[in-house]
Amino acid sequence: MSETKESYSVWSSISFWRRSAAWVTGFSVVLLIFLTFDSLSQIKMGTDEDLKNGVTKRVPAATVINYKIDYQMSQKRGHEVPVIGKQQPFFGKIWSPEEAEALLHTGKLTVQAKNCMNCHTLLGNGAYYAPDLTKAWLDPAWQKGGVMQAITQTNSTEEAMVKFLMNPPKYATHLRKMPNLGITHDEAMATVAFLKHMSAIDTNGFPRNFSKTINDFRSGVTHAH
Ligand code: HEC
Repeated sequence: MSETKESYSVWSSISFWRRSAAWVTGFSVVLLIFLTFDSLSQIKMGTDEDLKNGVTKRVPAATVINYKIDYQMSQKRGHEVPVIGKQQPFFGKIWSPEEAEALLHTGKLTVQAKNCMNCHTLLGNGAYYAPDLTKAWLDPAWQKGGVMQAITQTNSTEEAMVKFLMNPPKYATHLRKMPNLGITHDEAMATVAFLKHMSAIDTNGFPRNFSKTINDFRSGVTHAH
């Protein structure tokens, strides 16, 4: 080291910080562009053909309403994943892709018009005044032998949900009651289709638990999954 030349630490060099900032910004831009396209491909809706060929998509086609949906623990992923099973008529029929899409569309409009998110959460958006609806279709309470089919005197999840949605205070099972939102029969059917489709979306196991009903609190049972 010469005595005439002054030496500066690299940490106090302005050009070093300028160059670092440029590199970090450039790298982040490239990474974000990559992640945007990666997410878009992950959330792209599948097709009816995918369902028929057993091709798993994170967001299945509208016609997933024609199938049985299970929620099974995946040891590999460490949480439950929706598993699309056998064909199963929805409200007694198999819906064509056009019919299923139209139904889902009406369901989405109803969910928006009645502002379900004001109380519930759907796919991570909304409130936690009332149970999370993302996996409501899969809640054991609505299945065969569950409390909801029993109190609505119906034989299917979809019929039970329609009856509940058209008159929630009559079939209340939680400590907080859902008000009657004046939902018509057609709107209720479409809303149930919307809920069933949403439950088939692979959300990486979120949310984890189903809500507890008054009866569960009384009997000390939890929907352990
Ligand atoms: C003012 C608040 C409020 C609004 C708005 C609301 N709900 Fe609810 N909802 C509740 C409460 C509270 C419960 C729990 C009461 C019960 O199940 O008896 C509930 C329960 C439910 C359940 C049963 C949940 C389960 O896991 O068993 C479903 C399904 C449901 N609501 C759907 C909807 C839909 C669809 C909409 C919009 C069309 C909606 N709710 C709008 C308050 C609300």
